[in-house]
Amino acid sequence: MNKISNRVDNTFILNFQKQKIKTDLKRNVLSQMIKFFNSNQRFLKLKFKNDNLNRLYNIKNSKKFDSKENMLDGDWSNVEQAVNIYHLLTQAILLNIPGDIVELGCYDGTTSILMQKTLDQLDSKKIIHVYDSFEGLPEKSEKDGDTVFYPGSCKTQKEDLIQNFKKHKTKLPIIHEGWFSDTLPKGLPKKISFAHLDGDFYSSILESLIYVYPNLSKGAIVIIDDYCDPKIHDVNNILPGVKKACDEFFKDKKEKVGVLLAGGETHGYFRKL
Ligand SMILES: C[S@@+](CC[C@H](N)C(=O)[O-])C[C@H]1O[C@@H](n2cnc3c(N)ncnc32)[C@H](O)[C@@H]1O
Repeated sequence: MNKISNRVDNTFILNFQKQKIKTDLKRNVLSQMIKFFNSNQRFLKLKFKNDNLNRLYNIKNSKKFDSKENMLDGDWSNVEQAVNIYHLLTQAILLNIPGDIVELGCYDGTTSILMQKTLDQLDSKKIIHVYDSFEGLPEKSEKDGDTVFYPGSCKTQKEDLIQNFKKHKTKLPIIHEGWFSDTLPKGLPKKISFAHLDGDFYSSILESLIYVYPNLSKGAIVIIDDYCDPKIHDVNNILPGVKKACDEFFKDKKEKVGVLLAGGETHGYFRKL
């Protein structure tokens, strides 16, 4: 465990980023990556919702692809993010980090289905807990800056989440419906091995970190969706409040958030020391 540090992982990621691969080559690498990933997976196949992208990346022609398993909705997460989540969750399981899995801001289940399929693949009995208002995003603060998202964005219904899990023939997670301020204080597992924080706004991410952090086992991995460091990520910072919440929270902590490459999307992660 000691050998795996944020510093080592980030060095690899940053070196890769610095290579400034040309767009055509990136496209090619991504297409190869998805084909390799899909042909080696029995439980989890990746595909874009947007068929133009599937054609662009030659995914449609893959004989191994099961068209029913449309894991990515093309709106909230992309293939690179899915692959990052898959590999980091796999690490948490294979390193036997104690505790269950949580997703704060689950919407209609794209990521939590991916996580359950990863658990199934590794025959893990860990339980997934998901949290959402099912009212969309809360009020935003001035820390959220210039963002197109507004209170009520990303609203879905609990029933849609349940139907999506059923469609994928995947075990239902434990669903905690309500605002984080109501559900997190008493509704989190005592030990957490992996968390996906996807609440979008400054207050939601700060609240998620405040409640999740004390329950993380040593070595637990936390991915923070939409974490964007403009010095490193060369894309639009669509939710600037996310990094502000992390900067504030980690000011007096040993851990630091590292960036993850995710094509046109951004996310970051840390490992509990
Ligand atoms: C971008 S969506 C999540 C997407 C999801 N992780 C996926 O992969 O499909 C953000 C979600 O966070 C929820 N959310 C944000 N802030 C919240 C809060 N303070 N309390 C409860 N839910 C919240 C919203 O309702 C919304 O469904």
